[in-house]
Amino acid sequence: MEKQHIYITRKIDDAVFAPYAEQFEIHMWEREEDPVPRDILLEAVKDADGLFCMLSDKIDEELLRHAPNLKVVSNLAVGYDNIDLDEAEKHGVIATNTPDVLTETTADLGFALLMATARRIVEANQYIKTNQWQNWAPYLLAGSDIHHKTIGIVGMGRIGEAIANRAKGFDMNILYHNRSRKPDAEQALEATYVSFDQLIREADFIVSVVPFTKETNKLFNQAAFEKMKSTAIFINISRGATVDEDALVEALKMNKIKAAGLDVFEVEPITNEHPLMQLENAVCIPHIGSASEETRTKMIQLCMDNIAGVLNGTGAKTAIQ
Ligand code: DGY
Repeated sequence: MEKQHIYITRKIDDAVFAPYAEQFEIHMWEREEDPVPRDILLEAVKDADGLFCMLSDKIDEELLRHAPNLKVVSNLAVGYDNIDLDEAEKHGVIATNTPDVLTETTADLGFALLMATARRIVEANQYIKTNQWQNWAPYLLAGSDIHHKTIGIVGMGRIGEAIANRAKGFDMNILYHNRSRKPDAEQALEATYVSFDQLIREADFIVSVVPFTKETNKLFNQAAFEKMKSTAIFINISRGATVDEDALVEALKMNKIKAAGLDVFEVEPITNEHPLMQLENAVCIPHIGSASEETRTKMIQLCMDNIAGVLNGTGAKTAIQ
């Protein structure tokens, strides 16, 4: 019997897919940092039964039309706004993602970004390495306190709760906004449910963990930044398109808010010509929320398990519902 085909859109360690190599015919784009060009991808999926893809690969009607045998798309991310789920369903393709395994790591990064932004760690590092440190001074690189402040978490999913758990350790007052209330989280984390409006008005730290959807498209816009405290710090670890970046640049430049820590951008990769990159009060990192070696290895393993599960008929571990 002919082996089923799997296509992997980025170079991953041979050791991860070696156990599957006897059962499946596996092809892979051989570069780790560059995405597979679209025309090569469209050609590669023609005889693929399973597709292992990245959040930077667009899985849309065009791709699905090119892939008549495709049964599963396994996304190396918890977010899946790069996949057109309606089209996947129409084509009988199961889509999977990587929840749970990345929750704590992504929350670590979110909190690291919050702390780095509040305490001006990146600026301070630059200051000393460029030999600007000539004297100690009382307000030298003074930032904002984190402990006992109010954090507002927008999107209380698994990662939102893990952020709240860290905030609890800093004796923060925890506000959250979510599509639905989370009574268990409210009790366990001493978190208070508030409207989006109240959250952005009252929080010292506003952390976006919402998935990108039609409803959250540019949720953080000019009107939202206007309502925030002038001392507020905005952190985004969800998706760049939840923010109107022009409005954010304006808010940071005009000191309508104090600072922002951003792991995600509307267009990725963002270039250093973008106005956000010129601002000292914006700490920017390249979408590395779940990027620890341990977690990325678990995510890759889960993607392979999901593909094999669907192709073997035992089912995916983490199908997107
Ligand atoms: C995800 O998994 O969706 C994250 O954005 C990756 O860091």
